Amino acid sequence: MSNPTLVVADLPKLAALAHRYGARMVVDNTFCPLVVSPALHGADVVIHSLTKFVSGASDIIGGAICSSREFIAHLMDVNEGALMLLGPTMDPRIAFDLTLRLPHLGLRVAEHSRRALLFAERLRARGQKVIYPGMPDHPQHELLATLVNDGFGYGGIFDLDLGTAERANELMELLQNRDRFGFIAVSLGYFDTPDVLFRQQHLERALRARNRRSLASRRG
Ligand SMILES: Cc1ncc(COP(=O)(O)O)c(C=O)c1O
Repeated sequence: MSNPTLVVADLPKLAALAHRYGARMVVDNTFCPLVVSPALHGADVVIHSLTKFVSGASDIIGGAICSSREFIAHLMDVNEGALMLLGPTMDPRIAFDLTLRLPHLGLRVAEHSRRALLFAERLRARGQKVIYPGMPDHPQHELLATLVNDGFGYGGIFDLDLGTAERANELMELLQNRDRFGFIAVSLGYFDTPDVLFRQQHLERALRARNRRSLASRRG
């Protein structure tokens, strides 16, 4: 699933094409972990930005390369492996932290998908232009339906097309600064957006308390 257009790739067809010419197919599955398992549809290598849904809290930067033992061993070869030579080895504490989040990834992804569909349908009902691969009018909806694993929905991202950059910026400003419902962010896949309101208020209270304390100590 592509970022940001949410075009769904025809994995079996692309895999057949790649393999016919002796190439490996590499799929970036960051947008739909568990929803689609590209390895079941012909991918030789699957990569993920763990920074997004897999972390789920926007507090970790990481990535994963998933493939056959032989391919990973080749990458890690002490003399020639790209991972050994270029050095993208994960901090073991980060790796451990991520393993604690994997058991509930399924629950989180299913809920992300449920909410994405809900918001997409509500916005559509209000006349907005919405793109979501879980909706029957998405150009690759039927294809995606043949690729998904049961129980995880169609992914946690939908696009809202407001027509112009000005309107999009205006909405984002309102969501972040007035409604505190969604916020302008560099990543995705957090826990739910309404929580931002609580965290924002919590942060503001903590900052006010800290300022009061430092004022009092200067006066004292
Ligand atoms: C589909 C996809 N793959 C990979 C990345 C890179 O992620 P990272 O920030 O973990 O390097 C992104 C970032 O937005 C992405 O959207």
